[in-house]
Amino acid sequence: MNKGVLTSPAEVVVKSPNQVFFCPEESQFYAQCLEKMVLSQSHTTDPIVEFGAGDGSPVIRALLNSSFEGVVQGFELNFEASQLAKLRIEQYGLGAYYQIHNACFFSNAPANARYLIANPPYLPAPDNQLYMPSLHGGDDGALVTKQLLAQGCEQVMLMISAYSNPVDTVDFALQQGYEVADFMVTPLKFGYYSCEPKVRDSIAKLKCKRQAFFSERIYFLAGVLFRQKSAATVCLSEEFLKVMTAL
Ligand SMILES: C[S@@+](CC[C@H](N)C(=O)[O-])C[C@H]1O[C@@H](n2cnc3c(N)ncnc32)[C@H](O)[C@@H]1O
Repeated sequence: MNKGVLTSPAEVVVKSPNQVFFCPEESQFYAQCLEKMVLSQSHTTDPIVEFGAGDGSPVIRALLNSSFEGVVQGFELNFEASQLAKLRIEQYGLGAYYQIHNACFFSNAPANARYLIANPPYLPAPDNQLYMPSLHGGDDGALVTKQLLAQGCEQVMLMISAYSNPVDTVDFALQQGYEVADFMVTPLKFGYYSCEPKVRDSIAKLKCKRQAFFSERIYFLAGVLFRQKSAATVCLSEEFLKVMTAL
């Protein structure tokens, strides 16, 4: 079956944003980053693992816009989201390219995975009592991101928010032997999840410690391609952090 042929009319399944992650601007940017920095790179044929597939729409969109012939194994903790993702994959005839596991990434992803992608939870807050607890990224928002960078994959494409301690995150990545091979940045307005008072309060405290960077109206969200250091490539970490700390 051809990639991208709808096999049945798309059902409209409405879920509350407290049940299934819903932020179209962010998910669309994640899809653009996947398409440009991961799936359209001609040398990428290795299987890819994804942390937190959500409703599957970013990877589906990126697959439809690329000629990637490998397989993405998506892990999603949330049952409702994983069901939505499976439904969409089936509707687009993408079952050969994208498989969803309703399971925790950390205890189920293959240990030998070489390529990891994620739009991870990055909300800073003192605890996970949030609209969506699974979006909690620890006190500074960078906890899950660092756990993913510690998995030891050769290449990792992650979404990183400028209000979730980006400087420390990049330092950690460099310590793990990565370099910043490529990145894309977009301005985003604060949305439903980041406007939750507990989150806004944490972000404001992090700003005083120069661990969060934003203006009253926007913050920067980046897609960052980390690659294990090699002699052949240039590390763009300085340029990346100049952009992320500009506000
Ligand atoms: C920011 S959302 C991103 C969803 C989707 N990738 C997107 O960009 O639209 C993060 C997702 O990670 C999932 N998640 C959190 N912890 C997880 C874990 N340990 N294993 C698998 N998925 C997890 C959440 O349920 C949530 O759907």
